[in-house]
Amino acid sequence: MKVAIGSDHRGISLRRKVVEILRQGGHEVVDVGTFSDGPCDYPDIAGQVARLVARREVDRGILICGTGLGMAIAANKFPGVRAAPCHDELTAELSRLHNDANVLCLSGDMLGPRLVERIVNTWLKTEFEGGRHLVRLQKIRELECRNGKLL
Ligand code: RB5
Repeated sequence: MKVAIGSDHRGISLRRKVVEILRQGGHEVVDVGTFSDGPCDYPDIAGQVARLVARREVDRGILICGTGLGMAIAANKFPGVRAAPCHDELTAELSRLHNDANVLCLSGDMLGPRLVERIVNTWLKTEFEGGRHLVRLQKIRELECRNGKLL
């Protein structure tokens, strides 16, 4: 898979670890940074990864900030992006099975490297279940279309 990854300053060391996990798994990595030493604003990074996912230039995205929450909020502003903050293997698995999440958001502050390895590998290998969940995703798509016009 081709996977875009980005983090703010709070996710730099976890991002390095996740890049390693992805490369070990044979995935192609597009790393958008941050490459600066100082603080950066997470929406800038979320926008870069979410744009690549929305345009289907990559298969999936991974975003890391202090909590994973700001990244998810920002990435979900892009049509077609379904970004899910996951804190364990179960949320990672369900975000794929039920929500067909295409962006995984991780906390750089709260997750250890061994747990992250399990989360990332589970998230990458789990397929969307389809069926009744497809109807629900279609409804999300409709919300995007209808509410986008209000802006
Ligand atoms: C940055 O201080 C912090 O707010 C950010 O990394 C993230 O946790 C936001 O949701």
